[in-house]
Amino acid sequence: MLRAAFWRYTLILPIFLAAIVRAQYNIQLGYPASRQVPTSSLNNYTYVCNEIENSISHASQVFYPGSPEFGADISHWANSSSQVSACSVEPGTLADVGQILHLLASTHTPFAVKCGGHSVNLGFSSTPGVHISLIRFNNIVVHEDSGTVDVGAGLTWTDVYTELIPKGINVVGGRLNGVGVSGVTLGGGYSWKTNQYGLTIDTVTQYELVLPNGDVKVVTNADDDLWFALKGGFNNYGIVTKFTFQSHQQTNIWAALLNFAEDQMEAAQSALAQFLSEDRDRKAAQLAEFVYTNGSLSFGISLFYDGSAPPEGFYDDILNLPSASKSITTGSFTDFVLSQFLPTYKRVYFDAVPMLDYTVPIMTAFANETKFWGESLSKVDESVLVVYSLDPFASDFLTHGGPSAYPPDRSLPVKPSSIFYGWTDPSVDNDMRKAMRTSAATLVSIGIEDGQTDLEHAAPYINYALFGTPLEKMYGGNLERLREIRRTYDPENIMGLAGGWKF
Ligand SMILES: Cc1cc2nc3c(=O)[nH]c(=O)nc-3n(C[C@H](O)[C@H](O)[C@H](O)COP(=O)(O)OP(=O)(O)OC[C@H]3O[C@@H](n4cnc5c(N)ncnc54)[C@H](O)[C@@H]3O)c2cc1C
Ligand SMILES: *[C@@H]1O[C@H](CO)[C@@H](O)[C@H](O)[C@H]1NC(C)=O
Ligand SMILES: *[C@@H]1O[C@H](CO)[C@@H](O)[C@H](O)[C@H]1NC(C)=O
Ligand SMILES: *[C@@H]1O[C@H](CO)[C@@H](O)[C@H](O)[C@H]1NC(C)=O
Ligand SMILES: *[C@@H]1O[C@H](CO)[C@@H](O)[C@H](O)[C@H]1NC(C)=O
Repeated sequence: MLRAAFWRYTLILPIFLAAIVRAQYNIQLGYPASRQVPTSSLNNYTYVCNEIENSISHASQVFYPGSPEFGADISHWANSSSQVSACSVEPGTLADVGQILHLLASTHTPFAVKCGGHSVNLGFSSTPGVHISLIRFNNIVVHEDSGTVDVGAGLTWTDVYTELIPKGINVVGGRLNGVGVSGVTLGGGYSWKTNQYGLTIDTVTQYELVLPNGDVKVVTNADDDLWFALKGGFNNYGIVTKFTFQSHQQTNIWAALLNFAEDQMEAAQSALAQFLSEDRDRKAAQLAEFVYTNGSLSFGISLFYDGSAPPEGFYDDILNLPSASKSITTGSFTDFVLSQFLPTYKRVYFDAVPMLDYTVPIMTAFANETKFWGESLSKVDESVLVVYSLDPFASDFLTHGGPSAYPPDRSLPVKPSSIFYGWTDPSVDNDMRKAMRTSAATLVSIGIEDGQTDLEHAAPYINYALFGTPLEKMYGGNLERLREIRRTYDPENIMGLAGGWKF
């Protein structure tokens, strides 16, 4: 993992991305009868902001451009996924969330729902209309009797770990510092604990949901449809204000971070492939990535063990390799997550690369793609950072949960590999997008040639997939049912005014 943070921003939004966002708001279904909006104020989002301000309780607040709260509300991990809204609103009660949705629906105003702001697709949690920030839903309540934890929908996983780890408990959440609870939980959730307990969605026991019509519904496994749909359905069914998770005991953890230079990579790839080919202790988890920046290729491996030390000799074949750097620590889970981050760039795209196995030929192809695109894209923007990740979960990690919107086929243990490009110049966005699409497709076809024929129908991870990925690919045979459930709970397609993967 790269350990340097770059916070740089830009004001420029490329025209083609704006067109995509406009397309998302091109809603086909009807809306409730329009309110009596003065003709002069039609499509005036500031007018809607004022209306919201006048109708919400003191627990909630509207902020306008220029205020620090507004700036924080609309900001994202990557500035390329931010837009300047007419205002931001921080609801503090369920009734106010309902009231805000009512006003947005009746004025047909585009809006965004943001938790941790880690989506890198423009418009998924940003809007030129009304930006809803969930940061006031920030409570954490531990229920010792039921072994569950309530978590407010505006928190980050780092907030959650900071609160829970000192109490000796944990939940199955995000792996890198700063990622939001809501986006991860509504899109699947791959965790350091996934080999033991499954995806984050497999550990939810309850959702508190404000439906598009403003009604509040507590969704549990007694609710067939919404229970299924929220496990991968993002903002299609309303706004979640609270999640309840199963908790687990958490002791100190063991971790090692290794970096390999280009001439050391081949040995590291073989050792890792050998390690992954054997049946493993489910307390162990790994993440590895090929990185190209500033003219050089490197390979990083993070090794995790959920305990103060792995069994004797467990990781030795990797730990004993010649490396450029190596650190081994035993410490708190929170400190480990804090050590895991990607540097942010002005511009960032991600894409998902479904994989079933990480063999040596596959790793070699990942390394080659990293170098090939790193070299060619640095000619386009010399600041480019290119990262290709290997996400080697155990073969049974999808057996911990029942049917869910995502993944569409739990019999196929698809690993959520990803491609990350970070750069500076907005005028080359389209080159980056095309390169990423080409490269992801290349890796999948190399996987198929290497014998992973099921990759033909393997779902890309919805939380990593680049905008424009067909819904059929990600939700497979679930898509029709998800659309039907959407029509039941949101017949007027109010949530269609917010961006994201839309049913
Ligand atoms: C550095 C980095 C590390 C990552 N690490 C992991 C990881 O370890 N595991 C993993 O699985 N994924 C990981 N991801 C991907 C991550 O799951 C997605 O980016 C996720 O959507 C981020 O959630 P968020 O709340 O921060 O994002 P946001 O951009 O705030 O929200 C994402 C989407 O969810 C919707 N949404 C948010 N809150 C709500 C709500 N309460 N109700 C309804 N809809 C809502 C938004 O409208 C938006 O469409 C990582 C991403 C980055 C950039
Ligand atoms: C939009 O509405 C606001 C608030 O009512 C008003 O102050 C502003 O002048 C309007 N802008 C336009 C362009 O009509
Ligand atoms: C990020 O982008 C937004 C919208 O494009 C812009 O208004 C904002 O100033 C940028 N953020 C920072 C901190 O520069
Ligand atoms: C790449 O080089 C630039 C300029 O020399 C430097 O500022 C930057 O930190 C380097 N990036 C990394 C990830 O090493
Ligand atoms: C490396 O990747 C590029 C781009 O996909 C491809 O053209 C080239 O043939 C690959 N090289 C090797 C040795 O596989």
